Amino acid sequence: MYLRAFKKQLLSGPVEARTNGPEYSGFFARWDALASVRRKPRREFEAEGTRLFFPPELYPVVLHPIVAARGEGVVAGLLLQRLYDYLDFTTELENLAVIPIATKIGRGRSGMRLPEQMRADAHKIVTDEAWHAQFSDDFVRQIVTVTGCPRLGTEVPAAPVFVARLDALRQRLSPGLRGVEALLFAIVSETLISGILSDIPRDDRLPSAVRELVRDHAEDEGRHHVYFRSVLQHLWRALTPSERRDVGPLVPGAIHAFLEPDYDRVAYHLGGVGLSSDEIDQVISESWPTHEVRQSISRDASQLTRYFTELGALNDARTRDLFEEAGLVGIAHNSETAYLPKEVTA
Ligand SMILES: [Fe+2]
Ligand SMILES: [Fe+2]
Repeated sequence: MYLRAFKKQLLSGPVEARTNGPEYSGFFARWDALASVRRKPRREFEAEGTRLFFPPELYPVVLHPIVAARGEGVVAGLLLQRLYDYLDFTTELENLAVIPIATKIGRGRSGMRLPEQMRADAHKIVTDEAWHAQFSDDFVRQIVTVTGCPRLGTEVPAAPVFVARLDALRQRLSPGLRGVEALLFAIVSETLISGILSDIPRDDRLPSAVRELVRDHAEDEGRHHVYFRSVLQHLWRALTPSERRDVGPLVPGAIHAFLEPDYDRVAYHLGGVGLSSDEIDQVISESWPTHEVRQSISRDASQLTRYFTELGALNDARTRDLFEEAGLVGIAHNSETAYLPKEVTA
């Protein structure tokens, strides 16, 4: 079993037969001076009298009249639970989706022919992500202690929703390609996370330690974004044309797996504050109308969609159809890179 786990590649088959990827210039030369694990302190949560723990605009169910009518205390409690879920999601994402992939890359078992420097840098990502998982978990514990409000429903959903969505994607791959969905999901989440972390640090309604913690994470993720963009370029070159036709159609599902709200988790919390199941359905469907969710995902993923387009992935008719069906193409967005750190966008 251990020998099999050791040998298991993300992309199976002989590495020598795979095509080389592009040059890798490296994005971690100043890692010791920049990484949050090296230079940032433990963020300490203090009671600042705030009742706003998460931006309500990013959790629109609390703005719905049925929820708002329950009073400020209920809204504040729901936003605190949202923050807990967000931090817990971060810990799970790092542990389940990113660290195992970066570890495989670092140890030369990605199945791709990667430059030595790229493999070496993967270890820095493992360290960064372990720190993000640690400080997110630690921060939940601190907030529970300071506020006296426990995180609710820890026993209910056994895993965050992306796990089940990822299992469903895996089933769509031919057996020989299974494992690639994990690599693809790491690429998708690592190139999208820097965008979704960009609003919170700027929101001065939130407790300062929350903003600082998310800023620490966002700065590291800016470097990870460019690294995983490079991993994507290597992956696409490494895949055969027929493998690309198998993997390309999974991309829209991987994007939705990461960005679509966890409706079951939201329903659990709304039930916890006394809403009936009809009210829960109404609040969720009116807070996240399907077309708005699609538009928002399309906007958040526009830069990643461009990367796949530039690689020619959408030249395959089935892949293109699925991108269109998911609403990922056909809408003009301003694909900003403003949240990336200067040293990697320069
Ligand atoms: Fe991270
Ligand atoms: Fe990351």
